[in-house]
Order: sequence, then structure tokens, then C-alpha cells
Amino acid sequence: MRQPLVAGNWKMNGSQSSIAELMDGLKAGLSGVSGVDVAVCPSAVYLDRVGSMLNGSSINLGAQTVSEYESGAYTGENSVAMLKELDCRYVIVGHSERRSLFGETDAQVVAKYQAVRDAGLTPILCVGETLEEREQGRAQEVIASQVGAVLDALGADALNEAVVAYEPVWAIGTGKTATPDQAQEVHAQIRAQVAQSDAVIAEQLLILYGGSVNAGNAETLFSMADIDGGLVGGASLKVEDFVTICRAAT
Ligand code: G3H
Repeated sequence: MRQPLVAGNWKMNGSQSSIAELMDGLKAGLSGVSGVDVAVCPSAVYLDRVGSMLNGSSINLGAQTVSEYESGAYTGENSVAMLKELDCRYVIVGHSERRSLFGETDAQVVAKYQAVRDAGLTPILCVGETLEEREQGRAQEVIASQVGAVLDALGADALNEAVVAYEPVWAIGTGKTATPDQAQEVHAQIRAQVAQSDAVIAEQLLILYGGSVNAGNAETLFSMADIDGGLVGGASLKVEDFVTICRAAT
């Protein structure tokens, strides 16, 4: 059985005071909740602070991105070693906002993914099609190629104990959610693709859904056979909503 994971991607939001309030609420709201792994992914600026606030709670820390380079003259970047030192367990890799707004290529995504794995952290590999690609009937092909970039370069072992997040770009921050059936179809496709290389790894692979997950739709989405939790943006900034979403995964 796969233990579900719900990860909150705070994106570039929050302040020292709002984060303190959010963390107090989440720690209280999630204490005693079992059967789901929970992570929060604050801006890198707040990782250290949030990490200290997590002490004694079962909530895990995640980063929103990482440099593919080990160290050196890469102004503005953070290395996996730095994230590890701050006790990050997860690192989001290849989020569509990184791909579309900051030009991250599949090759970079693979390099970042490998850096995360090499450091012993868990990558959350994001894949997903744009609205145009879906309308052109190319969703399956686009997602297969994003997953394939990692599989082909690093082999199926690289997906052992890893996490993939299916995030249709048209559903991110738009309030438009993929229907549970639409999401399930893609999740099953991803699992089948990995199974072609390794059936055991595919069976154990956590595949999260992301894209306007909220307190009202989480339960139905998470009830689908191949949806193992969520990567949550906007709703992860609201204590009650995020707690409800985490509980829906149990
Ligand atoms: O990483 C999270 C996703 O981009 C989903 O964001 O829940 O605000 O649509 P959203």
C-alpha cells in the first residue's frame, strides 16, 4: 500500500508573521492525523525558519526548486547540500512555472532530479500539459515525454521511492480542476509507463495530483486508484483548507 502524501507549495507567498500563523495552525490541525505524509514547501528564504517551527511535528520540509550545480559561482541559486543541511526531505523539480517562466528544459530538470537523488532527498517531479496541448490531443504524448526524459536518462531506479506530480498547467491557480476521471487516466498512464521499465517501482511510485485542489474536491480526487495525494498551491496557504485536504488523503 502506498502511503499518500500531501505537499503544500507556498510558491512566492508569505511573510514572517503569516508563516508563523500558518505553521501554528497546521501543527495544531494536523496533530494526531495519521495515514498521510504532509510536507510544506516555503520560499527558500523561509526554509530555515519553517524548519525550526516544524521541530516536534510530523510535517516535513520541502523546497520549491534547487540548482543542478553542486556549488560555486551561481548567483541566486541554492544547492542540494544547503537544502539537506536545513533538513529538507522533498524538493519540487520541474514545476511548470519553472519550466514556462524561467525556461527550465527537460535536460535541466533531469540534472536537478539527479542532484536531489544523489543527496538522498526525495524529488517531486512535476509534469503536465498546457491547455493548447490538451486541445490538440497531445496531453498523453507531452506527459510521456516529460516522464521519459527522467526514465531514459537515469533509468527506472531513479523513480524508486520518488514522487511524480501530475499538474495540468490549465488547472494551476485557475480554479479549474481536472475531473477525477481525467486525472486518473493520466496517473494510470504514468504508472504504466514506469511499469514498462520496472513493475515494482511503478507500483510503489507516489503520483500526486496538482491543479486547484481544494477542501471541496480533494476527497473525490484522492479516492481514485492511482491518485496518491496532492501537490497543493493556493489552498495550502489556508490552515483550515489545507488540514481538510490532508485529512481527505487518509
Ligand atoms: O504546485 C502546486 C500547483 O501549481 C497547484 O497550484 O493549487 O494553486 O492550483 P494551485
